[in-house]
Amino acid sequence: MNKISIIGAGMTGATTAHWLAERELADIVLVDVVEGMPQGKALDMTEAMPIIGKDVNILGANDYAATKGSDIIIITAGLPRKPGMSRDDLLSANAEIVGTAATETLKHSPDAIYIILTNPLDTMAYLAMKKMGLPRNRVIGQAGILDSARMRAFVAMETGVSVENIDCYVLGGHGDEMVPLTRHSNVAGVPLKDYVSPSKLDAIVERTRKGGGEIVGLLKTGSAFYAPSAACAQMAEAILKNKNLIVPCAAHMEGEYGLTDMFFGVPVMLGRNGIEKIIEYSLDDGEKAMFDKSAEAVKETHEALKKLVQL
Ligand SMILES: NC(=O)c1ccc[n+]([C@@H]2O[C@H](COP(=O)([O-])OP(=O)(O)OC[C@H]3O[C@@H](n4cnc5c(N)ncnc54)[C@H](O)[C@@H]3O)[C@@H](O)[C@H]2O)c1
Repeated sequence: MNKISIIGAGMTGATTAHWLAERELADIVLVDVVEGMPQGKALDMTEAMPIIGKDVNILGANDYAATKGSDIIIITAGLPRKPGMSRDDLLSANAEIVGTAATETLKHSPDAIYIILTNPLDTMAYLAMKKMGLPRNRVIGQAGILDSARMRAFVAMETGVSVENIDCYVLGGHGDEMVPLTRHSNVAGVPLKDYVSPSKLDAIVERTRKGGGEIVGLLKTGSAFYAPSAACAQMAEAILKNKNLIVPCAAHMEGEYGLTDMFFGVPVMLGRNGIEKIIEYSLDDGEKAMFDKSAEAVKETHEALKKLVQL
């Protein structure tokens, strides 16, 4: 059995474990600083396995030693965004948490592939990669699958078409400047702009951009967790099954899209080595301008991080 360790057993971490257990993909370890909580959630989930008929070992722990020999480490530890709080406000608090989680788990799982979820996402993935000194194929940020899924859900709501027929691609940084690529999105092969009126499409794009905030505003005491964790589970599955699945993820840019030394949301091919390939779309002038604006926003957070942390 493969092994996946999830650091942070809060809303996204525990729900990721839930989605993963349903897939019977790997044994799972949940690690959190809160005593008893990861153990309690792991035991509760273990007791659900006979009901859903899955043979998965799920263990809760407060120490990183339990993660030994993991194939994948998913880092969700950190503080969630509160109403009125920007993703960037989370920077300093989460840098310390993610940096430690990354370097400590690497000691026990030197071959693991890392999926980062903690916000501000692009910058936390950058921090983790730099702190661990890993090649870029082994550190991947989750953002684009979620943002694209939100757009797909909104298109499905608008059109009444199955979500399975709807392909949307949201790239760029995981922030308000994200880049929903309407030209590359389609409903069963029909370009989105031919299926949805311009005003409806604008509204969908706007709602997608503010998708995270919409959930925060409704929940009031936390941020989204079902969809983000489903995205992490999809990434882990693509990696362990060597699917070569192309999905938008945050990856370290090494010249692609004219960007270097930063994480950014682009289409990547996920396989057993993590990022097998980065796909470069041809962008028109309008899309390029949105990309550049989004990249500037991510660079700003990267720069803020570099002032706080020695990398
Ligand atoms: N990238 C995305 O698309 C996306 C989506 C949703 C949430 N997030 C981010 O994911 C993070 C977690 O969100 P959540 O809703 O699960 O929050 P949560 O508060 O429910 O869970 C976070 C958990 O991390 C734990 N933790 C804190 N420090 C730790 C440490 N040093 N080691 C281990 N565990 C530690 C906390 O005890 C808590 O249980 C937040 O930063 C949030 O903004 C990102």
